[in-house]
Amino acid sequence: MSAQRGEFGSRLGFVLAAAGSAVGLGNIWKFPYEVGNGGGAAFVVLYLFFCFLLCFPVMVAEISIGRKTNRNPAGAFEALGYKKWSIVGKLGIFCGVLILSYYNVVAGWAFGYFFEMVSGNFAIAENFGAYVSDVTKVGLYGLIFMSVTAFIVSGGVQQGIEKAAKILMPSLLTIIFFLVIYAMTLPNAMEGLKFYLVPDFSKMNLQVIYGALGQAFFSLSLGMGALITYGSYVSKKENIVQSAALITLTDVGIAVVAGLMIFPFVFYQGLGPQQGPGLVFVALPGVFETLGPVLGVVIGSLFFMLLSFAALTSTVSLLEVPVSYLVDEKNMARKKAVWLTAGVIFLVGIPSLLANGASDFFSQFTGFLGSDTPTDFMTLVGYIANDSFLPLGGLLISVFAAYIWKKENLSKEISIGYEGYEGSFVQTFINFVISYLAPVVLGIVALLTILNRFLGITLI
Ligand code: PFF
Repeated sequence: MSAQRGEFGSRLGFVLAAAGSAVGLGNIWKFPYEVGNGGGAAFVVLYLFFCFLLCFPVMVAEISIGRKTNRNPAGAFEALGYKKWSIVGKLGIFCGVLILSYYNVVAGWAFGYFFEMVSGNFAIAENFGAYVSDVTKVGLYGLIFMSVTAFIVSGGVQQGIEKAAKILMPSLLTIIFFLVIYAMTLPNAMEGLKFYLVPDFSKMNLQVIYGALGQAFFSLSLGMGALITYGSYVSKKENIVQSAALITLTDVGIAVVAGLMIFPFVFYQGLGPQQGPGLVFVALPGVFETLGPVLGVVIGSLFFMLLSFAALTSTVSLLEVPVSYLVDEKNMARKKAVWLTAGVIFLVGIPSLLANGASDFFSQFTGFLGSDTPTDFMTLVGYIANDSFLPLGGLLISVFAAYIWKKENLSKEISIGYEGYEGSFVQTFINFVISYLAPVVLGIVALLTILNRFLGITLI
């Protein structure tokens, strides 16, 4: 094992860092617009189902693989004696690079919005299109964001991020709760809540199922080895199941509450919920404005500052995945690995930066490839990385844990730190999900998607 590997300082430190990885733009930026596109509450029901019944056991498996081996995602499979399976880890690392490349762009938008709110520029909402296509400006914000991420990762996760997460996570929650209560008092709030909470199952189709599944994996930072990596820094005293439950509950809780805030805001302003990636950026500033010039500026800037911090704990974990690989497998010094990876990923993100109006080619990307309904490059990367690779990674990790490494070994690892695990209902549930439910559900969705996307056959 490389001497440069770290370890989380405390139990709380691990849970906070992993929850920090999970809670991010996915909860507050992506979840609401996915719900909007997915037709509302039907999407929410599916998302909850996937998070608790499918993803939670996969999370336990990921953390266990990491803790057992003390290695990065690719090295972990090899350390267990299955060299060929390290391809799953490598796919995860590649996926992390793709996700961070565009995630950082959006984090840059949020960071820039902080300054807009400080200067009281609520009208930015109407000029969102111009804002995101101003490449020099948002590019600079993105560059700063990536540098801050790299700076934190280069120092090791323990000191900076553990401490920051302890202050920032509760602050974010407080602000969101305040805004939820305010949202409920607005005219049309009920209409928004109805859209969000009353399911209309006629809106459910393969696209919605697929989106909800991808969102569940994305939101929980699963399927690409981020939790193998964080698990590799966890001590043997840790109760993995309990920690995974805390991480899942925090993440899902914050996503659900963020929806309670956003949808009343959206309907109050007479906007449609199908605004796509601009939803939060378009719906919020106008609401802050109604709070008055002083309170509006305070709450608005606080909100986007905290959103940026929520994103930061996620970008840190995304960067940590390829870095841990270079440190473990290539014996690279941590600092060198960090700055090299961050630089490359920033460059990989440039097409995404240009995909929001600055360049026609990247903004209408699939149109140039012959599609009638053009998708921009950034959205396309999201489809590939979040919605395809993550569930595929989850499928492979489940199959690996259940049938290759084997359930008995998984159970043995979980039992360390969790007395009484063997023979418990929790064990039966986790084993059932990773052996049957996850492979079957993820396999069927993958099959339907292949039929649909590549062969044009639609079964649902
Ligand atoms: N879970 C993060 C979010 O919801 O914003 C995104 C993410 C972080 C995905 C880390 C994957 C990952 F490994």
